[in-house]
Amino acid sequence: MSTTTSTDHHVKTLGVLGAGQMGGGIAQVSAMAGLTVRVFDAFPGAIDKCKAVHAKSLAKLVEKGKLSQEAATAASGRISFVNTLDALTGCDWLVEAVIEDVKIKKDLLSKLAAMYPDESVVLATNTSSISITDLATAAGKTAHRVVGMHFFNPVPLMQLVEVIPAMQTTPQVIDRTIALATAMGKTPLRANDRAGFISNRVLMPMINEAFYAWMEGVAEPEAIDGIMKLGCNFPMGPLRLADFIGLDTCCHIMNVLADGLNNDRYRPCPLLKQLVTAGRLGDKTGRGVYAYPSK
Ligand SMILES: NC(=O)c1ccc[n+]([C@@H]2O[C@H](COP(=O)([O-])OP(=O)(O)OC[C@H]3O[C@@H](n4cnc5c(N)ncnc54)[C@H](O)[C@@H]3O)[C@@H](O)[C@H]2O)c1
Repeated sequence: MSTTTSTDHHVKTLGVLGAGQMGGGIAQVSAMAGLTVRVFDAFPGAIDKCKAVHAKSLAKLVEKGKLSQEAATAASGRISFVNTLDALTGCDWLVEAVIEDVKIKKDLLSKLAAMYPDESVVLATNTSSISITDLATAAGKTAHRVVGMHFFNPVPLMQLVEVIPAMQTTPQVIDRTIALATAMGKTPLRANDRAGFISNRVLMPMINEAFYAWMEGVAEPEAIDGIMKLGCNFPMGPLRLADFIGLDTCCHIMNVLADGLNNDRYRPCPLLKQLVTAGRLGDKTGRGVYAYPSK
């Protein structure tokens, strides 16, 4: 169902937890949409890296004529970085984008629920696969204000925000999430809280199948990707995309699908698992299916 709404999101100051690829991107698009943004990360190195990524990304948007220099400077000025959770006090919406670890996410969500007794403060999660209903239980009595707000990588360029209500989420929180994503210039589309939601339920088994095709000698990676690009009009082939996402993440999501849908046909392909064991995780380690010597 396509979803736009006139409901106001009532957000002025947005808190982002995690200054990685996704948290940094969410912070940038929020600041570009005029929100004041505070970014928290537990690791100082992540904050330095995030600042550098923002500078580069905003400069690129200016260079391409998609943003004026004034708007880029103003957006950058609206983002501040903090290294304690307490320094996030005063935000009226929070998006967590820390690593895909259910224990860490639940721990943060329960701390946030305690820090923010005002139930109008929404606790959104950018998880790509963990059950929103399960994460929401960490907010105890205020589980109804937890929602999945799934952005795509790279956030400044990708249009979609997949909106996933937990079983506990109220319709009002869903409407406000849709309104906020729209105000950020994104297109929100709803999915229900089943393993992989829609995006990874459909995408990941295709990527996994591409690894099977390679393992079984149907074709080499260049041919598999070439055929899918030209034949299906994909901007990049499934194996190249797996390197971009991270082969470890692909494996993790396949296991979430297999467990959540109770079906072993979703288990990661043995070749995919073997590459991960060998440390070939994709772009981030300089080698996955393909080699990236410059990274
Ligand atoms: N990479 C993608 O393509 C993609 C797409 C959509 C959603 N996601 C989801 O977004 C989330 C973040 O992914 P990412 O790719 O940005 O990962 P990342 O590794 O780039 O960033 C994660 C950040 O979390 C920080 N962190 C770890 N533990 C923390 C803690 N306890 N408190 C605060 N910060 C902590 C790390 O320092 C790091 O900066 C994950 O849930 C992931 O599944 C990723």
